[in-house]
Amino acid sequence: MKITFFSTQPYDRESFLEHQSNPRFELVFLEEKLTEHTAPLVKGSEIICVFVNDMLNENVIRQLSQLGIQLIALRCAGFNNVDLKAAQAHNIKVVRVPVYSPHAVAEYTLAMIMTLNRKTHKAYNRVREQNFSLNGLLGFDLYKKTVGVIGTGHIGEVFCRILHGLGCNVLACDPVKKSAVEAMGIPYVPMNELLPVCDILSLHCPLHETTRYLVNSNTISQMKTGIMLINTSRGGLVDTKAIIVGLKTGKIGYLGIDVYEQEADLFFQNRSEQIILDDTIARLVSFPNVLITAHQGFFTQEALDQIALTTLDSIMQFTKGETLINEIRK
Ligand code: NAI
Repeated sequence: MKITFFSTQPYDRESFLEHQSNPRFELVFLEEKLTEHTAPLVKGSEIICVFVNDMLNENVIRQLSQLGIQLIALRCAGFNNVDLKAAQAHNIKVVRVPVYSPHAVAEYTLAMIMTLNRKTHKAYNRVREQNFSLNGLLGFDLYKKTVGVIGTGHIGEVFCRILHGLGCNVLACDPVKKSAVEAMGIPYVPMNELLPVCDILSLHCPLHETTRYLVNSNTISQMKTGIMLINTSRGGLVDTKAIIVGLKTGKIGYLGIDVYEQEADLFFQNRSEQIILDDTIARLVSFPNVLITAHQGFFTQEALDQIALTTLDSIMQFTKGETLINEIRK
């Protein structure tokens, strides 16, 4: 059985080949992103495996269905890039990896905060040039700072635990309250109460119709001046143009993003020899108080192993006609 993988990098191939032991599976690794133009490459497969920036809109799903695809296996947690209604209409099942390592992303979020705050990225470069001055590197104690966590699912809960351990004053915001979070003494507060008091705000909710542009000019205006905003979830949660205005006025004091709304055209590729036509990211890169990374929050050995194991398990369940434990249902 042929399984076509889109958007693969060497580390994807290595981890899937390491964990794949079924002689009936033929894994075909493509570097191409899945789009309307590359969909015909699935020919001969019944299953495809895709990642965060592969395009699975109505048109692509129709093409996949015509080509005989019966299962879409997402090797990630978020599924905002899939038109689930179209998949259902074409009788294509969709599975994902709901949990692989919440620690990977939660710990990475802390790394972004620490880097922006204590400016270790700048210090590293300075010392390499024999500049041992501390001017411009002043940070603040995280201890007792108020941190707002939007979304306390798998990742948000681990992040709350880390912040709690650091002695931060943590406030949570999620329509679903978790007793494990409340047991840490962390209260749930509505967004309008959280925004004006947070020194740091971190996003850990999924992207869907109601969370798109959760951070916009209106919500930014309610934030404490000089706030540190961190987004390791999905780019579409923030209105980047409004963020740039906030950075220019100083309302936003620091920005750390591991995701970007238009990342599909940039991330996971080396574009260092090319002209970047996206003026928004070019502007963001120019701010001294902005840290951008290319969707690497998930990128730990433990997470890669778990992603491969769970995805291969789902494929096995599908081929045996068993219940798909990680199926996404509309
Ligand atoms: P999860 O599904 O366990 O938790 C999401 C939480 O967000 C739930 O508790 C839900 O009730 C809450 N939520 C939904 N709408 C909300 C709203 N309007 N306001 C506040 N909370 C809301 O998801 P998990 O595993 O914690 O992942 C969170 C997100 O992190 C994913 O959706 C994905 O976009 C992103 N992610 C990013 C990665 C990276 O490499 N940077 C890797 C993995 C996930």
